[in-house]
Amino acid sequence: MFDLDNLVRPNVRRLTPYSCARDDFHGKAEIFLDANENPFGTLNRYPDPYQRELKAEISRLKGVPVENIFLGNGSDEIIDLCFRIFCNPGADKALTLKPSYGMYEVSASVNDVQIIKIPLSETFGVNFDDIKPHFRDKNLKIILLCSPNNPTGNCIDRTVIESILNEFNGIVMLDEAYIDFSDQPSMKDDIDRYPNLIVMQTFSKAFGLASVRVGMAFTNPEIIRYLNKMKPPYNISTLNQKTVLKKLKKQGEYLTQVMKIKKERTRLSGEIAKLSCVVEVFPSDANFILVRMKDADLIYDYLVNKGIIVRNRSNVINNCLRITVGTKIENNRLLRALKSMEK
Ligand SMILES: Cc1ncc(COP(=O)(O)O)c(C=O)c1O
Repeated sequence: MFDLDNLVRPNVRRLTPYSCARDDFHGKAEIFLDANENPFGTLNRYPDPYQRELKAEISRLKGVPVENIFLGNGSDEIIDLCFRIFCNPGADKALTLKPSYGMYEVSASVNDVQIIKIPLSETFGVNFDDIKPHFRDKNLKIILLCSPNNPTGNCIDRTVIESILNEFNGIVMLDEAYIDFSDQPSMKDDIDRYPNLIVMQTFSKAFGLASVRVGMAFTNPEIIRYLNKMKPPYNISTLNQKTVLKKLKKQGEYLTQVMKIKKERTRLSGEIAKLSCVVEVFPSDANFILVRMKDADLIYDYLVNKGIIVRNRSNVINNCLRITVGTKIENNRLLRALKSMEK
């Protein structure tokens, strides 16, 4: 049985979180002399620690109640917070797939959490029977899934995700950083059905706000309470909250950009597949394409010399480059450079 309080590290259960000045006071006031702020200026006040205005807008956009939303300084902060809430350093474990987003392993290492990596199949699928035996491990606290997966670009089969959610009594973090580029539905609407599910999304990709550092977690209010307990009080600056709010008012811009990126993804995949230096272009549900080359290192260096930087993933998938879909002009420059290499 899933027992949240039992999963949480004892010191976190006992923790009395930092109480900031604005937590002590509720209501309307005219003069704030409670937080040792400088009384002069326009950026002199601490941010809203719970980002209420922003969460109300996100709630409207995503159709998820405010009490089910947590915001982090990027998804990366949410990943780190979960390791610190659920995993005892030097004892507990997390499980992820291989290859997947590199931060899972780095964040686990930072927190002295052992990571178990289950290889994806040749076609980047997930075999539930490879994961299931690990459910018996009492020290396995978190399973991290990425769908669409970075760097393979494909979505994980929903029935596999549901089997994991049903049979694993720990936390399942589902990273949907690239979901806006996919036709697969998000699982954010399933958080009521699965008390162990944390769905993560981000403003860094489809919303074009990577420099702003705002990531979202959708989960049940009990998990949100622990995330709020653990986070630094002012983890999202006022400037960043306002920037996201402004972006949310421009829904049309977001939709147009996602549409353009998806269209370019199709075109770029088709054109790259015609090149003789290419072995295979993998189908993508994300804003990048994974391409198997005859000699990825050679092509990577060649593109660097042309001032074009792609991601060489050869160390994790044999002879593969991960290419982000750029603007039409950028993609054409890439294609010209690759074609000129063939001459
Ligand atoms: C799968 C995945 N999750 C999360 C992130 C980072 O998200 P954020 O910018 O919100 O920290 C990335 C960035 O590349 C990613 O590939």
